[in-house]
Amino acid sequence: MTEPYRHREEIVNAHLAILLTRHGVAAEAETIHQSGQHRPDVMFILGGLRVIIEGKFSDAAGAEDAVMSDALSRVKSGICHIAVALVYPKDIRTTDTSQIEKILSTSRLRFNIISETEPTGWAEATPSGILSALRHIHGVLIKDDIVATSAKKLSERIELIADLWIGETATSDRLSERLGMPAKRGETKDEQKARRKTAIRVASLMIANALIFQEQLSSHGRDNRVDPLQTYDKSADPAGEIRNHWHEIWTKINYRPIFEIGEKILQDIPTSSRNIIPAVRWLIEEAKAICANQSALRHDLMGRIYHWLLYHSKYLGTYYTATSSATLLLKLVFAKEWEGRDFGSLKKLSDFVVADLACGTGTLLMAAAQAITDRFVVSRVKTGRKKLAAADLGDLHKILMENLLYGYDILPTAVNLTSSTLGMLAPNITYHNMNLFVMPMGVPAGTKKANSLRLGSLDFIGRNGVDIQFSLHDRQMFDRQTGVAIEKDTKAVIPDNIDLCVMNPPFVRSVGGNLLFGSLPDKERAKLQTELKKRSKDLQASVTAGLGSVFLALADKYLRIGGRLAFILPVALATGEAWGKSRRLLADGYHIETVIV
Ligand SMILES: C[S@@+](CC[C@H](N)C(=O)[O-])C[C@H]1O[C@@H](n2cnc3c(N)ncnc32)[C@H](O)[C@@H]1O
Repeated sequence: MTEPYRHREEIVNAHLAILLTRHGVAAEAETIHQSGQHRPDVMFILGGLRVIIEGKFSDAAGAEDAVMSDALSRVKSGICHIAVALVYPKDIRTTDTSQIEKILSTSRLRFNIISETEPTGWAEATPSGILSALRHIHGVLIKDDIVATSAKKLSERIELIADLWIGETATSDRLSERLGMPAKRGETKDEQKARRKTAIRVASLMIANALIFQEQLSSHGRDNRVDPLQTYDKSADPAGEIRNHWHEIWTKINYRPIFEIGEKILQDIPTSSRNIIPAVRWLIEEAKAICANQSALRHDLMGRIYHWLLYHSKYLGTYYTATSSATLLLKLVFAKEWEGRDFGSLKKLSDFVVADLACGTGTLLMAAAQAITDRFVVSRVKTGRKKLAAADLGDLHKILMENLLYGYDILPTAVNLTSSTLGMLAPNITYHNMNLFVMPMGVPAGTKKANSLRLGSLDFIGRNGVDIQFSLHDRQMFDRQTGVAIEKDTKAVIPDNIDLCVMNPPFVRSVGGNLLFGSLPDKERAKLQTELKKRSKDLQASVTAGLGSVFLALADKYLRIGGRLAFILPVALATGEAWGKSRRLLADGYHIETVIV
């Protein structure tokens, strides 16, 4: 008597993939021919999230444990957002090939779903039941509620701290200097109070941010020199201990942009202040709660709170780019064909450049990093590349940080938050440099020369390197010969081969309230406006239309031929008289692919 044919798991996986596609799963459904042990069994995109199914037959030794461990490591390494550990009934091994799909569709399979929230636990369902369970989990993960709840709780704490500290005027003035929001000349009492309150709020946010980063590094990072937050549970002087530890981290390990500012803020608060201990304890509590919910950290939670705080303080009029808008824009951009670009090759990606010249807290750069990660994973799976392991995602993250993403803004605290928001996407990866720059804006003290006026990123008009005051990474420092001495100098540079320039530039216009450079005192503002008009005269832009028009023309100068622009601009671009030059620029040099209104 002949033995019935015994199918291998990948045959059943292939049938499962086809079955799921018939249930309306996005067309990305892929089954991987398992020549490499690092490759997931079945992968598809469900509403923008990557899902992987790891399956084994029930008669394989330790089947449940094996698929569970594979699924857990897929989510942990970031290869997918959701993983399903699946056990096939052993009878399917010997089912006639033509019948597999039919039998699978009615079989109750044992499954466990792993995502950033708790695993669901083992249960049994048919493939369509499993898909419903997946849709449910997907709904929970993408719900903005998680972020909104975390943001609300942390903001409430920050308000309490602001109320507690507002009487400490010397401290809040020191903080406001430190955070780049100095007192305006002739400030009214109300303005002074608002500025001080904003400084305390932003300082508290920066402390919370560094605490969250510390906790992430300690639980997901590879360096065991980073302490978990519970170390301070019984400490009599948590602020002092944290300050010292942050100093150790940025001087001996890395992450200077996050921990140096944190340390300096804590230094600005006198240790004698009675209010410091309760404030730090509240922030530790919130940081722990936020870290317990990893999916909040996949969004730019801190960016959202930051903009909310500034918006309510009417400070600088910076408007936040909603995460959903950023995700939509970048998904559309990366859904396009990029001629000659292989997104599955790390080597090729290392010379791909994405830049945001007004990056704020980095929402658009974060969305770009996520869209590129999607393309990387899908492209590797589709083209049957040898392996897709946690280490590959780690290498990708390093390239994103060190080579690919460029961000510039005038707000030091926003750029600091950008650095941690991006860093939190993979806290286990050590990177040595990031191309994030704080661009000076204003009239430097004692200057008479017009060309020493600083216009933020608009200083890149006509030159691709700009002296800046401080650097976020030591690698941005250069030696400068001054007479016989060598001084440390630091420069912001902009590549001239940008593949994608993504931006939500400041929209302020030069008419109606004259708000260009609106955060500056009147006299400075007038000088900068005159200088901007002069410097932008060779650009195809109109200062009257506003900074958006100038940023668009500037981006065009540094874009490589065949590159793309993805901008958020006022609807006046379509018809406004002042926007005529920008329309001409686009009509002459670009093919308009997508317009979202
Ligand atoms: C609409 S917001 C962009 C928000 C950003 N996409 C985000 O989500 O955080 C505009 C940004 O432009 C920055 N900005 C304003 N003037 C600038 C200048 N001259 N150079 C560089 N950045 C500037 C502001 O600080 C602000 O962060």
